Amino acid sequence: MTAWHLRTSRFVDPMGALRLGHFVDVLQRFPAGHLLDLGAGHGLFSRLAADLGWRVTAVDARDERFPRDDRVRWVRADVRDFDEYEGVDLVACLGLWYHLTLDDQVALARRMAPRPVILDTHFAMPRRKDHHHHADRVSDLVQQDGYEGRLYSETGLHTRPTASWGNELSFWPTVPTLERQFYDAGYDVLEHLSPPPCADRHYVVVRSWSPEHQAWMDGLISTYRKMSDPGAAPCDPAAASLAAASLGANGGSGRGLVAAVARLGRGRRGGLGRQRSPQGTNPPGSGVSSARGAGSTAEKVSSPAERIGAGLGTGDSGRGTVEQDGVLQGTARQDVIDLIAGAREPRTAERGESGR
Ligand SMILES: C[S@@+](CC[C@H](N)C(=O)[O-])C[C@H]1O[C@@H](n2cnc3c(N)ncnc32)[C@H](O)[C@@H]1O
Repeated sequence: MTAWHLRTSRFVDPMGALRLGHFVDVLQRFPAGHLLDLGAGHGLFSRLAADLGWRVTAVDARDERFPRDDRVRWVRADVRDFDEYEGVDLVACLGLWYHLTLDDQVALARRMAPRPVILDTHFAMPRRKDHHHHADRVSDLVQQDGYEGRLYSETGLHTRPTASWGNELSFWPTVPTLERQFYDAGYDVLEHLSPPPCADRHYVVVRSWSPEHQAWMDGLISTYRKMSDPGAAPCDPAAASLAAASLGANGGSGRGLVAAVARLGRGRRGGLGRQRSPQGTNPPGSGVSSARGAGSTAEKVSSPAERIGAGLGTGDSGRGTVEQDGVLQGTARQDVIDLIAGAREPRTAERGESGR
């Protein structure tokens, strides 16, 4: 049990307390706008978002648990048919993903893109017995179209207000498959929040880079490439300034970007940092276009994710360990943090008008 779990265990519903905490934490990363809450159910998350100043549309196939709250637009609809995404700034998909089939998940990810998503879902563990309460309902690991996961039997659960809507079998993806579902839909970053509500259930934030962030990352990467050359200056002020200007134009969350850097570094080995497959045919971890597997990465990589993937993970760079278990280490980590901190809070005397 982690310190965080000890903290939430004083609540009657510790897992619920943690889920609320993660939800509010993520909401506060974004300026309040229009939230679409899919599978809203009891509506608590929708109402909490309204408390925090969000305009909320709450969708669920069942409306019996919708509370009375005129601040929220309550819509009874199947999320597989619902298509009102125009003007939505953020999508919440809490406790719903694992009640859908694989095909419906893939289609929904594409419909939500490119909006950021807060996702709370069960996923398939390597061993069935690790599913604890659900071990008797999940199948062995199955493969379909290069995706991997477990089928979850909804049989006999349909009288429950929390169950699937119309499908007897739902799909619980493995973590790499969840990453691929979103990566193939066009997303760049998938971040797991810690601690997870329980062993086989994660809170995940999925988002894509705006053009401004891509420009910012390009500046960061060009700087970082120099940092990974033995003997090179740790930080190129010109590139840092360019990066600061890009970010200054966009605002953005330094904390999220640190997570993004670390995450994509890890993805190079097994998830996101690979060539996006237009047809969705490159399974995660297949080595397609991976920095080491591709040989000469400089020519082969093209997307920002790949470029940063190529730049990270070079533990033999001569500047100490650069990446370990997906987390930047040592001087490299400090350099990136300094760069991001500098970009977020530019000293105007040095960087002109690049402030936010
Ligand atoms: C486990 S509850 C989650 C409720 C709430 N979002 C939460 O996280 O506590 C799942 C909800 O998804 C809804 N649901 C399941 N399949 C759906 C579908 N295809 N379309 C719309 N709602 C669906 C159920 O009616 C239920 O309210």
